Amino acid sequence: MMEELEDERLLVKFEQIADRLSEKGYAVVDNFLEPQEVHDLLDVLTHHRDQGTFKKAGIGASDQFQVDKSVRGDYIRWIEPQNALPPTQVFLDRMNEMMRYINRTCFLGLKDYEFHFTEYPVGTVYKRHIDQFKTNDHRKLSFICYLNEGWLPEHGGNLRLYLPQEDGGEETVDILPIAGRLACFRADMIPHEVLVATRPRYSLTGWMLDQLSELTFL
Ligand code: OGA
Ligand code: MN
Repeated sequence: MMEELEDERLLVKFEQIADRLSEKGYAVVDNFLEPQEVHDLLDVLTHHRDQGTFKKAGIGASDQFQVDKSVRGDYIRWIEPQNALPPTQVFLDRMNEMMRYINRTCFLGLKDYEFHFTEYPVGTVYKRHIDQFKTNDHRKLSFICYLNEGWLPEHGGNLRLYLPQEDGGEETVDILPIAGRLACFRADMIPHEVLVATRPRYSLTGWMLDQLSELTFL
């Protein structure tokens, strides 16, 4: 019974996400992760960080890779699905179910996904950008799942989306990175940025692709 309720609860969220993605090109859903799931994922993130496996993130695909702290200040650790710890596996399984749900309703031909753990140290940002690489357009949807317990508006760190309007203008939407919240949007259409925060800002960030992931873990 509990499991059925849980499945039902998730289905409602998948449905909200798929509907809003196709209507507006983006979606925000709260309590996508339970507080306990957030807590367990934060423990995993801390474990990886203590092991020194976070790396300064860069900009561009491998052949045009650049690191510029004033443009992008986060540290990341890609998830290796084969070696994922149990809380990470639960998260990946959920994303897999969501990908299947979205494929049944949105016809984006999604085939795979790739995610990393992310930390934005205090004072860092990611300036306005689009997630699709110029040389590689296989990222169809972007997802960010926030892990920030007790986050308040005064801590900053909003995700700001710039939504293209029919009249050629732009509308902005600010999304606070609160624990358990999932934000997603069309990777090819929506410019966005990460605003500066007064606390370290944690998340799982990833993409759904229309081909198999080409990440290699050396
Ligand atoms: C990104 C990104 C947004 C966020 O990693 O490409 O835009 O809210 N992240 O962390
Ligand atoms: Mn981005």
